[in-house]
Amino acid sequence: MATLLIVTLLVACATARRPIRSAFTRASVAQGDSIFHGQVAGGTCAECHGPNARGTAAAPNLVDGEWQNGDGSYEFIVRTVTTGVPPHPEHGRAGMPAMGGVRLTSEQVRSVAAYVYTRSRPGR
Ligand code: HEC
Repeated sequence: MATLLIVTLLVACATARRPIRSAFTRASVAQGDSIFHGQVAGGTCAECHGPNARGTAAAPNLVDGEWQNGDGSYEFIVRTVTTGVPPHPEHGRAGMPAMGGVRLTSEQVRSVAAYVYTRSRPGR
């Protein structure tokens, strides 16, 4: 009986300590930073979006809170990185190749999306 009580308490504590956003952790954001900047998995993001993710002539700013292709949610970012973006002549740019043109695992896609999501919401 005492064991059951302890187990119940432990489960309750673990649930109470859930991170703010359960879909990713600090470790995955750090891994996403490395992918974005090409130190891991041959990530190419910074080449087009700029080392500070503030955009270049080739690709939009990802940290200004403005989104051209969706709502800026984590799910939108995961989807966009996975599939890329078709060319939009009205935006004056070529499209984005899926995963920036390299092969990322789904875990790496989620990490780089967690990094972009976090950067696009400073202080949150
Ligand atoms: C070859 C250049 C290129 C590379 C490499 C690239 N992107 Fe992009 N990305 C673009 C372009 C161009 C667009 C937007 C096209 C448009 O809407 O006109 C875009 C759009 C996006 C968007 C949506 C922005 C919005 O406002 O809707 C996200 C998020 C994004 N990229 C993340 C990434 C990440 C993360 C990586 C690395 C895995 C990456 N991109 C690599 C060119 C690139």
